[in-house]
Amino acid sequence: MAGRKWSDGLLLAVLFACVWWPSSADGAPGVASKAEVDLKSRYLHYKQANGLGLTPPMGWNSWNHFACAINETVIRETADALVSTGLSKLGYEYVNIDDCWAEIARDYNGNLVAKNTTFPSGIKALADYVHSKGLKLGIYSDSGYFTCSRTMPGSLGHEEQDAKTFAAWGIDYLKYDNCNNGGTKPTVRYPIMSHALRNAGRPIFFSLCEWGDLHPALWGAKLGNSWRTTNDIADTWDSMMSRADLNEPYAEYAGPGGWNDPDMLEVGNGGMTKSEYEVHFSIWAISKAPLLLGSDIRKLDKETEEIVSNKEVIAVNQDPLGIQAKKVRSEGDQEVWAGPLTGYRVAVLLVNRGMYRYTVIAHWDDIGLPPITVAEARDLWEHKTLKNKFVGNITATVGGRSCRMFILKPVA
Ligand SMILES: *[C@@H]1O[C@H](CO)[C@@H](O)[C@H](O)[C@H]1NC(C)=O
Ligand SMILES: *[C@@H]1O[C@H](CO)[C@@H](O)[C@H](O)[C@H]1NC(C)=O
Ligand SMILES: *[C@@H]1O[C@H](CO)[C@@H](O)[C@H](O)[C@H]1NC(C)=O
Repeated sequence: MAGRKWSDGLLLAVLFACVWWPSSADGAPGVASKAEVDLKSRYLHYKQANGLGLTPPMGWNSWNHFACAINETVIRETADALVSTGLSKLGYEYVNIDDCWAEIARDYNGNLVAKNTTFPSGIKALADYVHSKGLKLGIYSDSGYFTCSRTMPGSLGHEEQDAKTFAAWGIDYLKYDNCNNGGTKPTVRYPIMSHALRNAGRPIFFSLCEWGDLHPALWGAKLGNSWRTTNDIADTWDSMMSRADLNEPYAEYAGPGGWNDPDMLEVGNGGMTKSEYEVHFSIWAISKAPLLLGSDIRKLDKETEEIVSNKEVIAVNQDPLGIQAKKVRSEGDQEVWAGPLTGYRVAVLLVNRGMYRYTVIAHWDDIGLPPITVAEARDLWEHKTLKNKFVGNITATVGGRSCRMFILKPVA
């Protein structure tokens, strides 16, 4: 037993080179030992899948901004923009084409065909282009007879063939939708594509999109790398917060290799204020949700850029421990979300859902720190380490429909 533990630890130390392995003498032993145990069990869990998605995927998807109005120019220019804005360097690597990219009819061999009016060069050429930029290309299909737009076929009955087509084109990510499925259960249809992808000869991130219908958190990790826990998001505060709430109870099912997905980001699409978008980005980050940008990043405005390129918030999302935060306290409109990070640290998000400024308190007891812990606080939106040290709680004023986000780090 001891030997096996040691080799697991060694393997993990190699895999997660930036994990700080704590000794029991310093910091907050309660938090650290729990996190360490979680990391080990999570490693075993993702090993059953395809090895992708050790941290939540980051990138862009066409749907939230463009819906069906896409073409190869938009996809290429978006890839260009991810690089020129510096977003690719921050981890945004997937360029994901959503619905409406194919002809309504398959070819005479039954293969999917890129729509020739909008993708005349074909998907393989697009994949080559995106790869040449150091990025990855994602595509979309549906576990039914037609996709949700009904402008192209679904993969039901063609799973093996389509998976092989995607692999041959150099696809790196598949979002798999749930429309027009003839009434069979997702637990019947999704395993077929999961199996087909695993036999397609190329590692392809598998994103299950069955809208949370049958609690996919309970079975998704065996099949794919992420699973939608909710219906589609819309670009409003109420829609966004309801997706956050619906996603939260499944926290314990997420981990390296398989993530809960409350849908793609709306930051930059214009339906929320800056502080509301900060709440959106912060909750998605601390919830280890995929960070898939959903605006037109060819025209990235300053406000959007400031939000989605916040390195410190991104680092919370990409922390190798991969533990999804939970809502640990909720009083009226004020909420505390918290979750452990590597190196004994804890990410804390104070959210004020009300219209007016309010004081919000995060108690150590709620966020999993031992009561006597003295902690240093880093404010992730102000980008500063607070002068005061904190014991027992951290208290902050939070504006209406705003948040404050901290990393607490125990000090000697
Ligand atoms: C491609 O799509 C974009 C966004 O919908 C549109 O503005 C542009 O005119 C289209 N280009 C072509 C060549 O169809
Ligand atoms: C698109 O498809 C139509 C019908 O199959 C064909 O006539 C046409 O030449 C194609 N256009 C291009 C640009 O390949
Ligand atoms: C929060 O912590 C401070 C300093 O440790 C303490 O004085 C204060 O009473 C605490 N507040 C609550 C509500 O526990």
